[in-house]
Amino acid sequence: MVRIMFVCLGNICRSPMAEAIARAKVKEKGLEKKILIASSGTGNWHVGKRPHEGTLEILEKHDIDHRDLNGRQVKEADFHEFDYLIALDSTNEFHLNNMKPDNSKATIRRLLSYDSTTSLTEVPDPYFTGNFFEVYDLIDRSVTHLLEDVIKQHVSS
Ligand code: 4NP
Repeated sequence: MVRIMFVCLGNICRSPMAEAIARAKVKEKGLEKKILIASSGTGNWHVGKRPHEGTLEILEKHDIDHRDLNGRQVKEADFHEFDYLIALDSTNEFHLNNMKPDNSKATIRRLLSYDSTTSLTEVPDPYFTGNFFEVYDLIDRSVTHLLEDVIKQHVSS
């Protein structure tokens, strides 16, 4: 089982969107027993909360299930339980690298490093920009590449 956690700041806009999109793609490929998807935030303001309505709206528009998304904060155990901690921007990548225990084997990477077709390095925060459409497209494309990479390395052999 490969475990992937998406991490943003609040865990109500970008990382739950990535979680729902990735889970839908994993389900489409019939790989639910091989790839586990989760998300969290580096901040604690929205623990236990449902995603932002902008995220829910765009997921519904694309017919993507969002029922089991609830805010949580990244914790030390996640660095041992997850193989990949995927940061939505460089600030969150920085925080993850700072938090990472020495004996953690988790790979910490920025999501957009998987997408060679964009010049952006981080997913803009729609909590501040209001642009959930732009974010959806960026996340959808990069998650596709991330999953291809993970499947090639860990699943198909
Ligand atoms: P997210 O967006 O990191 O994509 O979930 C944010 C959500 C909430 C806050 C900041 C960013 N906040 O400051 O409450």
